[in-house]
Formats: sequence, C-alpha cells, structure tokens
Amino acid sequence: MACFIVFEGGDGSGKSTQARSLLRRMRRRGIQALHTREPGGTPLGQALRSLLKSGDPMTPISELMLFEAARAQLVEQVIRPFLQQGGVVIADRFTSSTVAYQGYGRGLDRELIERLNREATGGLEPDLTVLLDVPVETALARKTGGESGGKGDNFDDAPADFHRRVRRGYSALAATDPEGWLVLDGQRPPEQLGREIWAKVEAIL
Ligand code: TYD
Repeated sequence: MACFIVFEGGDGSGKSTQARSLLRRMRRRGIQALHTREPGGTPLGQALRSLLKSGDPMTPISELMLFEAARAQLVEQVIRPFLQQGGVVIADRFTSSTVAYQGYGRGLDRELIERLNREATGGLEPDLTVLLDVPVETALARKTGGESGGKGDNFDDAPADFHRRVRRGYSALAATDPEGWLVLDGQRPPEQLGREIWAKVEAIL
C-alpha cells in the first residue's frame, strides 16, 4: 500500500537516524520502501547539497527557490513514481522544512512558501509527518560534537535564535494538524522512539 512518511526536525534532532531505522524495519518485513532526503536524491538535489555545504552565503529568496526546484525534481523523478508502484516513501525533510527554515527562520512570506510548496509537489502531502523535537542547545551540541564534525553549512552556522524560530515554526505547524503529525521528544532513547514511530506507521499501513 502506497504511503508517504516524512521526518522533520531541526539540525541535530536525530530524524535521519530514525528515518533509516524505520526503513530497516520495513525492509525486514518485506515492505517495499525507499528513503529520500532533501536536498538530495537527484542530480539537482545533490548539487544544491554541495552548494550549501560550501558555506557560500545565499540570499534567503535564492535559498527558497533552490530548495523548491530541488523538491520539484525529487517529487517528479523519485517520490511520485515509487508511490505509484505502491511503495512506502520515507522522506528526510519535505515541505514543512521550508516553512520552518525559510518562513519562520529567515522570515520569508509564508503564503509565498505555501504556494511554491504546492507548485513544486503538485499538491502531494504526507500521510504522516514525524517531528523530533529537541531543545536548540541540545541539538546544536549534538551537531558540533556529532556526525558533521562541526563542519558548518549555512544553517549550522546560523545563530541559536534562528534555530529557536525554526523549532517554534515546527511546533506551530504540528499544532494545526494533530492527526497528521506525530510529535516526539527527540531526547528520549532512540530505540524507544523507533518503537513508537513503528507502532504509529503500522496502524496507518
Ligand atoms: P539536512 O540534510 O538535515 O542537513 P545535514 O546534512 O546537516 O543533516 O538538511 C540540510 C539543511 O538544509 C538543514 O540545515 C535544513 C536546510 N533546509 C532548509 O532550510 N529548507 C528546506 O526546505 C530543506 C529541505 C532543508
């Protein structure tokens, strides 16, 4: 059964770990599942990822349009075809990232973002969005000590206030649709979180 699950959260929230763990659980059960990440997954998405990692400053509007361009490619070339075959897509970030980062974080017009999100995705919406919520200080400490090894991109180097706005943005989005969002305290043990996410996903499937 086709199903579209999105993981969201600030940098260092542990969403990528949980997305990969859900993918493994599904594959063990013989479910046809695919993991995507944004930006990434297509040549355009990979190019945007490299550009962001270079740390070269971008204006907020350029940033917005590049994320949307990369998303349009990913939906068209990867996500939609996989869903049409009846698979489960587990996406590490989707439209809510843009509302949280470019809208709440950078202060760009939210109606514009919602419009671009709709255009880029052709109206595709997740069946479930899992939000891993972590206090900003904890998340940033994880990032600098963690997998990125402190090598900053445009977002890792943003001030803590930026990340606080992003976190607030996610909470506001989740509050508007409690049915569609599973909000979890990302400070809990990863195994516990994994079990809770699986229980919810299993119910949907
Ligand atoms: P991510 O893959 O989470 O970063 P990392 O490789 O460090 O784990 O995403 C890259 C960054 O891009 C992240 O800081 C969030 C940002 N981003 C936006 O600002 N807007 C968007 O629409 C998306 C998809 C990501």
